[in-house]
Amino acid sequence: MNLKAVSEETGEIIAYLGLTRKRPAVTEEEVKKSPGNLTSNVPNGIVPDVLKEVVRAVGEVEEGNLWKGKDYYEVTFICVTPTSQRQGVGRQLMQVAFDKARKEGLPLIVCSEPAAHNFFEVLGFKETNYVEIDLTKLAPKHSGFGVFRLTGMIWES
Ligand SMILES: CC(C)(COP(=O)(O)OP(=O)(O)OC[C@H]1O[C@@H](n2cnc3c(N)ncnc32)[C@H](O)[C@@H]1OP(=O)(O)O)[C@@H](O)C(=O)NCCC(=O)NCCS
Repeated sequence: MNLKAVSEETGEIIAYLGLTRKRPAVTEEEVKKSPGNLTSNVPNGIVPDVLKEVVRAVGEVEEGNLWKGKDYYEVTFICVTPTSQRQGVGRQLMQVAFDKARKEGLPLIVCSEPAAHNFFEVLGFKETNYVEIDLTKLAPKHSGFGVFRLTGMIWES
């Protein structure tokens, strides 16, 4: 399910939320198809090694975050335009996800970037695991990039 929020004043789209119902990969075939194993279709402008590393890390976080082997919902993306941030838009979009997960008695998981960690924590998510990507090995020397942490988090009603 994909949702978008539209400003009543300007009619512009100010936020997106992607919510996916998932089940843990069980068979070998399913594990092969899991996000951690995607290596093809690198979009233009993306450094393949960085994408590969991020995809691997997301897959590793997801695997560690599986909830007792049962189905779960995942926030696949959430994004609020910079000028509309800190006005409660993200929180309102997440209420739709909470209502859906609560209704079906399923947990909600997310793989959070560092900048969004506090947002998810304030909304009631708990940390389950994390994976660190050492960008010093992938970025040019003196680029200033260091270790980047992706955190698995879970919300249960
Ligand atoms: C993370 C994001 C979705 C939050 O959306 P938002 O509409 O700005 O969040 P809200 O206004 O609903 O914030 C709810 C609460 O979360 C916390 N919060 C939100 N953004 C925060 C930030 N940048 N730093 C610290 N706390 C934050 C605050 O406690 C906030 O309540 P308050 O404003 O009353 O203090 C938005 O900043 C965003 O799109 N960021 C870029 C994309 C991104 O990082 N997506 C997540 C990838 S995992």
